[in-house]
Amino acid sequence: MAGEKTVETTGLLGWIDRRFPLTSMYKEHMSEYYAPKNFNFWYFFGSLALLVLVIQIVTGIFLVMNYKPDAKLAFESVEYIMREVPGGWIIRYMHSTGASMFFVVVYLHMLRGLFYGSYRKPRELVWIFGVAIFLCLMAEAFMGYLLPWGQMSYWGAQVIVNLFSAIPFIGPDLAIFIRGDYVVSDATLNRFFALHVIAVPLVLLGLVVAHLIALHEVGSNNPDGIEIKDGPKDAQGRPLDGIPFHPYYSVHDILGVAGFLIVFAAIVFFAPEMGGYFLEFNNFSPADALKTPPHIAPVWYFTPFYSMLRATTADFTWVLAGASVLGALVLFVKGKLPGIWRLAVPAILIAVAVLLRVIDAKFWGVVAMGGTVVILFFLPWLDKSPVKSIRYRPGWHKVLYAIFLVNFLILGYLGTQAPNDLFNLLSQIGTVIYLAFFLLMPVWSRLGTFKPEPDRVTFRPH
Ligand code: HEM
Repeated sequence: MAGEKTVETTGLLGWIDRRFPLTSMYKEHMSEYYAPKNFNFWYFFGSLALLVLVIQIVTGIFLVMNYKPDAKLAFESVEYIMREVPGGWIIRYMHSTGASMFFVVVYLHMLRGLFYGSYRKPRELVWIFGVAIFLCLMAEAFMGYLLPWGQMSYWGAQVIVNLFSAIPFIGPDLAIFIRGDYVVSDATLNRFFALHVIAVPLVLLGLVVAHLIALHEVGSNNPDGIEIKDGPKDAQGRPLDGIPFHPYYSVHDILGVAGFLIVFAAIVFFAPEMGGYFLEFNNFSPADALKTPPHIAPVWYFTPFYSMLRATTADFTWVLAGASVLGALVLFVKGKLPGIWRLAVPAILIAVAVLLRVIDAKFWGVVAMGGTVVILFFLPWLDKSPVKSIRYRPGWHKVLYAIFLVNFLILGYLGTQAPNDLFNLLSQIGTVIYLAFFLLMPVWSRLGTFKPEPDRVTFRPH
């Protein structure tokens, strides 16, 4: 039985099992972890994220052997790795490509969760650990990007750390605290190095372990969004729609790994800069505190959020304040919030509307950038649909998902471009669409005609 403590009695394994739960852990998480038999390719991305995590840690260790976290030496030490260290170039390109591919894989992994309602009960904690991982990953990538000490490293960090100074009262001191100086300097490089190589990876690893323990506690979701544990079981109590993770999915995942490594190797060998998206051209010049590049843009994986930051201008805070007042009115008149919340939530929204006009728009830009990530934590409670998977939702829900996705990609593109009036307007519309998708989800997700969910998972042997 899964989860039962199993002890080998003989040999080396027996010796270990009497001291450490090796066999029972292997059974619980591999050979007797029953996963739904209808997984599709979307289920590759969790194990691929694990693979990229390992690639990043291993290549990172080798990079640190030759990298110098010193403002005078950092840029040259990276060039030294690229030109002089045997195999240094491939280690560095694997690490820089790995950073971008981590985000490709994790974005697809999150999208799968969104499509199949994998964040819904009982997997709320799996999702919450996931969003925390995503935040950590963003911090890790941001701090890692300073280390080569190129122009974009320097000015990107300057722009983002300066944003913190927009926070009322504590902002300016906070920005100095983060940098360890009045401008981005050697002190900043040293602390970002410490955080990038040890502090954040430790937290990230802990969160990944928590993510998987939480997942194995409740079991995996699947493309139909129905619980195999609630379906028929065999004489031993194992779900008939489940198959042991090992060997079935361990072998299945090898296919995903092979496909991924082909793409990964093609990028590392033939297009490591990826047209300036994976390694920005400006970052091949050493950091110069006296020469601001004309156009500073973060790496592609941050650009959707960067667009929403730039969209939040003083004019745009009128739109957000108006939306807050409208939300307050609707909740007050029609809302079904319990007890004190019926008054408190509209009152908070009115207060937010006032503050939106009182505090500098730069601060609200920071709030928009952070809030658009933090909102993901609440997804399990925002979605009120009677079914989990997109397969059984009304057709127009699928249209909404498509609009959300295209909008996110457009925001990403806009964030890479120099701002102009048209692009600013498009970013503002995109920000409204992004926020409306989540904030109005409690309303739209329960509307429409849902298809009946099947009793058993849909599975065609192949
Ligand atoms: C380092 C990053 C991550 C790693 C290594 C990782 C690993 C995994 C693995 C191995 C699985 C099981 C296989 C699978 O379902 O694909 C999984 C499932 C899951 N992950 Fe992640 N994950 C990461 C990031 C995230 C993020 C950022 C989110 C969401 C914000 C997330 C949400 C989920 C959910 C909801 C499931 C359950 C899916 C289901 O059962 O349908 N994960 N993760």
